[in-house]
Amino acid sequence: MNRIALTASFILTAIGAAAAQNAPAPETLTATQRDGQKLFYQSCGVCHLKPQITAPQFAPALSKESVSGNDSAMRQVISEGTPRMPGFKYQFSPEQIGFIASYVMALPPQPAPASTQR
Ligand code: HEC
Repeated sequence: MNRIALTASFILTAIGAAAAQNAPAPETLTATQRDGQKLFYQSCGVCHLKPQITAPQFAPALSKESVSGNDSAMRQVISEGTPRMPGFKYQFSPEQIGFIASYVMALPPQPAPASTQR
C-alpha cells in the first residue's frame, strides 16, 4: 500500500471509530432510516455519540430500547426535549422527526459507556 492509501485508510478508520459507534451498516437500513441517520449525525450525535476516545459522552447512547422502545414516546422526546436536551419541533417537521425515530429504533442495544450516567 502506498503512503497516500495508507493515510486515507487510517483517516477513514479513525472517523469510523469515532462516528460509527455501533452504527448499523447502511445497506441494512431502509431509505427512511438512512434519511434519519443523516439528521441524527447532524443534530443528535454531538451529545449522543462519543466525540473522541478521551472525551466523555454527554447523553445516553440511543437504541431501539430507548424510551422503552416506544415509537410515539420517542417522537415526543425528540419534539419536546428533556431537562438537558433541546426539543426539535421547530427545527424538524413531524415527518423528519419520524425519520430520526425510525433510525434510532434500528440501532441495536448497546451497553452504556462507563462514563455515561443514565
Ligand atoms: C444538547 C445535547 C443533546 C442533543 C443535541 C440531543 N440530545 Fe437527546 N438527550 C440528551 C440528554 C442529556 C438526554 C438524557 C435525558 C436528560 O438528562 O435530560 C437525552 C435523552 C434522549 C432520549 C431519551 C433516552 C431514553 O432512553 O430515555 C432520546 C430518545 C433522545 N435524547 C433522542 C435525541 C435525538 C433523536 C436527538 C437529535 C434530534 C437528540 N436527542 C439530541 C441530550 C441531547
